[in-house]
Amino acid sequence: MDYKQQVAAALSDAVDGALSTEDIYNKIERPKDSKMGDYAFPAFVLAKVLKKAPQQIATDLIEKIDQSKFEKIQAVGPYVNFFLDKAIFSSDVLSQVIKAGASYGDNDSGEGGNVPIDLSSPNIAKPISMGHLRSTVIGNSISEILKKNGYNPIKDNHLGDWGTQFGKLIVAYKKWGVEEDVKKDPITNLVKYYVRFHKEDVDQPELDDEAREWFKKLEDGDKEATRLWTWFREESLKSFNAIYEKLGVEFDTFNGEAFYNDKMQEGIDWLKKMGLLKESQGAQVVDLEKYNLNPALILKSDGASLYITRDIATAIYRDKTYKPAMNLYVVGSEQTYYFQQLKAVLLEMGLPSAKELHHIPFGLITVNGKKLSTRSGRIILLDEVLDDSINMAKKQISEKNPDLPNKDEVAKQVGVGAIIFGDLKNERTNSIDFNLEDQLRFEGETGPYVQYSHARAESILRKAGDTEINADNTIMTDPEAWDTIKTLADFPATVIEAKEEFEPSDIAKYAIRLAKTFNKYYAHSKILEEDDEKSARLALVKSVSVVLKESLRLLGVQAPDQM
Ligand code: ARG
Repeated sequence: MDYKQQVAAALSDAVDGALSTEDIYNKIERPKDSKMGDYAFPAFVLAKVLKKAPQQIATDLIEKIDQSKFEKIQAVGPYVNFFLDKAIFSSDVLSQVIKAGASYGDNDSGEGGNVPIDLSSPNIAKPISMGHLRSTVIGNSISEILKKNGYNPIKDNHLGDWGTQFGKLIVAYKKWGVEEDVKKDPITNLVKYYVRFHKEDVDQPELDDEAREWFKKLEDGDKEATRLWTWFREESLKSFNAIYEKLGVEFDTFNGEAFYNDKMQEGIDWLKKMGLLKESQGAQVVDLEKYNLNPALILKSDGASLYITRDIATAIYRDKTYKPAMNLYVVGSEQTYYFQQLKAVLLEMGLPSAKELHHIPFGLITVNGKKLSTRSGRIILLDEVLDDSINMAKKQISEKNPDLPNKDEVAKQVGVGAIIFGDLKNERTNSIDFNLEDQLRFEGETGPYVQYSHARAESILRKAGDTEINADNTIMTDPEAWDTIKTLADFPATVIEAKEEFEPSDIAKYAIRLAKTFNKYYAHSKILEEDDEKSARLALVKSVSVVLKESLRLLGVQAPDQM
């Protein structure tokens, strides 16, 4: 139940239509200091309509409000402060969480609507970058958040597996490639050939002609070209999959750019039919002046397609296949202008789902101040960052809990979780510099801290054995329990907020807040003491465990029971 709604309803009755329940709801605040109540209504928003001083309005309201559902209601200056009935509220919240378990906070506002999410989307024959990592974990979390809000997300990995660079790669491989090397370490070696191509074509421009020919062959379905391309793609995918496996992220489809190679004509015909294609210096463009954007180049003068040509085909395909409620693209903020152009072109075409196209940008990420890039000699490979983190987590766990049975498994969950959480706790558009040591700490705002709080709750429950957990008559009045219960009650609204903003950090910040209030509670109370309130205290611990685990799950982070 939404308690803010209850407060709004009580006020609405009292103001007799002077303000709608919805407007009242939106004005209700959550006082920082709990001495000022659990909710507060600023009476000055009624001053104009009622033509009275706010203080007077507040005092009048107190007289009119049905107080039976609250512990007390007070007028303080221009505010009406509401104190919830702790006994009713506590039993209500805890029994809801315990009854619902992991489905606490679910809602069906998405009405099962399909939402294709374009995420990860690394480029074949290149290392997967930290930017692709962000896209992967942000996209994966948004997918879970949407599911919790009743949508049906479809995670589509739009691989960069097409383009003239594959002509270059084929030429380079045929000249200098070694099959065994590619099999052993595909990305490193393919990058090496590619870099060498760019060095040698400075003096041998004929290499570029050869590359163009080979790309043309590839487009025309030539046997050898296709065999090599397929093989490069498969080898690259193997190494990407090893990373996805470590991250615990799965995809529904891998329809990369190549998948749309034979589907571009429809979009071009569509543009032509609507008179949107214009010639400009031999090339075909769509004018976007109306949107205050530069023209979008759709076909080069030699008729070659571009990134956007394939994206138009992609959007048409997704539109037809899924009839999407929304269309999401989780791609770095450096492509913001590009996605504005794409959306404008699709709007001009009248593609039904174009209005609900959302580019979900995110900022840059560096590791210990270093940027990852393909061209520079010193590249930090994502795979190595993950392994470092797992090893460091294992060292910490071995020191903290030498008797833990499944250390390797837990180290993986903590090491990987630290990286995912360390990313997702930041508002996604912020740039972040990642310091592994910091993110692996068990204290502070980290993944391991939240995981550890969950494991602490689980450990208490194990010690309690089969003591009854009963949320029915929960009269916990100490401030730490009360804060924890109120935080638990905030979870459903947080799930909605995170969906509206496509913002996993809302969930991560919530998880930190819940872990903190719970740890304060833990420090202040003797949970396992034998008295009348023991089963209520256990209900609180159980609820915290359920909601922390569910919050972490929404972020794509595991929650070990012991660590
Ligand atoms: N492969 C691209 C890159 O690494 C990202 C693709 C994003 N998705 C899309 N539909 N354009 O920059």
